[in-house]
Amino acid sequence: MVGSPRKGGNVDRLVQEVLDGAEEVGYQTEEYILNELNYSGCQGCNHCKTADECRVDDDISGLLEDIREADAVVFGSPIYFHLFTGQFKLMQDRFYSFIDSGFRSRLAPGKKAVIVTSQGNPDLSAFEKAADDFAEVLRFLGFEVADIIRMGSGGPPDAVLERKDLLDQARSVGSSL
Ligand SMILES: Cc1cc2nc3c(=O)[nH]c(=O)nc-3n(C[C@H](O)[C@H](O)[C@H](O)COP(=O)(O)O)c2cc1C
Repeated sequence: MVGSPRKGGNVDRLVQEVLDGAEEVGYQTEEYILNELNYSGCQGCNHCKTADECRVDDDISGLLEDIREADAVVFGSPIYFHLFTGQFKLMQDRFYSFIDSGFRSRLAPGKKAVIVTSQGNPDLSAFEKAADDFAEVLRFLGFEVADIIRMGSGGPPDAVLERKDLLDQARSVGSSL
C-alpha cells in the first residue's frame, strides 16, 4: 500500500516496482493508494479483543482482509515530519484487530514484508527510525521483513527516475519474495 498522497511519486513508483517484480515470479498483486480511500483510525473500542474482526466497516476493511490472506505485503510511505504520513498511521492503527486479547498476533506466521520510504533529506540516517520502528511492529505481528528500501533527496515526485539503483533493488526484492 502507498501512504503518499502523490500518486506516481517516489514511493508509489518504488512500491509498483516491487509489485512488478513479484508478478514476474507469479504473485497476484493489488495496490492500495491510501489517499484515495475513505477510512477512519482505530476507535479503541476493543471489539477486536472479543471478536476476531474490526468493528469499523470502511475502505480499510478489505485491505485488512487482504493482509490476512497475503503471502507478502509491501508497505510504502514518505517521511512527513520525521514519521510516516498520517494516511499511513491511520491505517496502521487498524492493525490492532490483528492482535488477540492475549496480545498475540492472529496473523499466520511467515508473511513477508517490504517497506519503502522516501524523504527530502539526503541523509538517510536522519529519519531511519521511522521505518525501523515500523519494521518492529511488523515483526511483532509475525512478518519477516525482507527489505527496507530507503530513498533520500526525494523532493521532486519523479526524483526516483534518476535512482536506477533503487528501482533495481525494488524489482529484485519483489522477484525474490
Ligand atoms: C508535510 C510534509 C512533511 C515532510 N517532512 C519531511 C521530513 O520530516 N523529513 C524529510 O526529509 N522530508 C520531509 N518531507 C519530504 C518528503 O518526505 C519527500 O518529498 C518524499 O520523497 C515524498 O515522497 P513521495 O514522492 O512518494 O510523495 C515532507 C514533505 C511534506 C509534504
